[in-house]
Amino acid sequence: MIITLIGFMGSGKSSIGRRLSKKLKIKLIDLDDHIVKKEKRTINAIFHEDGERYFRKLESKYLKKIIDRTDHAIIALGGGTPCNDKNWKALKKTKSFYLKRTENYLFERLRNNKEKRPLIKSLNDEQLRELIKVRLLQRTPYYERADYIIDMDLDKKALTQVIVDIIKMT
Ligand code: S3P
Repeated sequence: MIITLIGFMGSGKSSIGRRLSKKLKIKLIDLDDHIVKKEKRTINAIFHEDGERYFRKLESKYLKKIIDRTDHAIIALGGGTPCNDKNWKALKKTKSFYLKRTENYLFERLRNNKEKRPLIKSLNDEQLRELIKVRLLQRTPYYERADYIIDMDLDKKALTQVIVDIIKMT
């Protein structure tokens, strides 16, 4: 079984992924980390040197490879990974969870966590708020294709348990 975690930057995909991985004893693949390892450069460097379009191609390539070649894994996607039809073709083969957060939560989380994220790295607070608003609106229809939408109102421990329960039930 492949479980995919979907959501905006800062929604907690990696940290929920780590908790799930421990509980379910299934390995976690963080797609961004995987790309960094394979390409031997940071996400910032890829964006800076080759642009977002090139990054998106890499993202699709590695996502497909992982899904085609893996039987059991939890994959924490990047915020933009599920935002096209091509990637959804691959994601359909997985059990997908959208970790839904409010604009306010994302703003507070991201304003102090910008450095590794090329899309927001050099934005001020006002620009960050605007980017979250606009991209969330554009991306929500893609995120909501997930098999399960998890309203992230609970704490991380409880959230992880909710996801574990869903996985065990299905
Ligand atoms: C991106 C999110 C990032 C990373 C890249 C682009 C996006 O991942 O893939 O910087 O388009 O939302 P996280 O969601 O893990 O921050």
